[in-house]
Amino acid sequence: GPLAPPLKSLADFPIGATGMTGQLDDAVWVAAMRRHVDQITPEWELKPERILQPGFAFDFSASDRMVDWGEEQGLRVFGHCLVWYSQGLDQFTNALPTARFAAEFDRYVSTVAGRYRGRMVGWDVVNEAVAEDGDGLRDCVYARKLGPEAYIVRAFRQARAADPDAVLFLNDYNLENNPRKGATFLRLVERLLAQGAPIGGIGTQSHLDIDIPAGQIRDFFRDAGSLGLPIHVSELDFSMRSDSPVDTRTLGQKRARQVARVGELAEAFMALPARQRFAFTTWGLRDVDSWLLRDEGKGWKDDSPLLLDAEGRANPAFEAVAEAFAR
Ligand code: G3I
Repeated sequence: GPLAPPLKSLADFPIGATGMTGQLDDAVWVAAMRRHVDQITPEWELKPERILQPGFAFDFSASDRMVDWGEEQGLRVFGHCLVWYSQGLDQFTNALPTARFAAEFDRYVSTVAGRYRGRMVGWDVVNEAVAEDGDGLRDCVYARKLGPEAYIVRAFRQARAADPDAVLFLNDYNLENNPRKGATFLRLVERLLAQGAPIGGIGTQSHLDIDIPAGQIRDFFRDAGSLGLPIHVSELDFSMRSDSPVDTRTLGQKRARQVARVGELAEAFMALPARQRFAFTTWGLRDVDSWLLRDEGKGWKDDSPLLLDAEGRANPAFEAVAEAFAR
């Protein structure tokens, strides 16, 4: 069948997707990126796991490559992420004296954000700060050493000082899948803003559970929109994999659920005022690019979690998104 029409031509806001250095020599992927997106999120090169080296040294070789490539392609570059509970832990240890921990924390955020000053449209300054089940904040070494909300305010202040122009985001997942987590996230944003954190936008990763009840996505976006901040759909995918050994859904039923939920999300995004539509980013461009088929060997090779198939043709969810964007 025909190639899907350029997604960026269907939207009056930026369309994003992830990229990694390993894809830059893949002519098919490069052509698909050029056709569909106007924004790129490096999938891991800007993370602490890649930049932070022993002795609090930095290795920017991969991050420089990705930011340079994005700019060469004329893409907006979105930074992900400066502080994440799950990374940097070999250097940021509990044993470190708090004064040294704080100094290195500040130096990491300001050095990384400062290196790309003026080149990033935005940063996920803190990723996944809310507890997994939505009951309060996630415990992590940064929270323990610097304070459960103080580390977040601190990171945003350092990032703002290092890059005055980037839109600074708090980013998290399961905000639509788990209404309690979504509410906890929004209350956290309000508290942080009240403490003076320069939060310029909120990122909802939107790794959708296609079996959630209709309306949950719409309700989250309505509540999130009421904060008045730009919203980034930052990591959209919608796996058909099931953890249930008794998953009786047919492929057709899974596709129908994907179309319903992704359509609801695209419509909810379109219901926001234009100034609150920061960007609409999928986590991978084509199914074959998805971490869900790749990582840790747990990937389900038959999954189809994105808008495009391996050949760049429209998956059913693409039509739902295109229809919503055209409204
Ligand atoms: O490419 C290197 C390879 O050269 C090296 O030999 C190998 C062993 O260290 O690592 C490879 O890098 C891996 C990288 O993915 C690229 O494939 C890293 O180990 C691996 O940790 C990294 O996983 C990423 C993961 O976040 C952790 O950073 C996934 O690609 C990425 O899709 C995933 O993305 C996260 C978001 O950041 C936050 N939201 C959830 C989302 C999915 O888990």
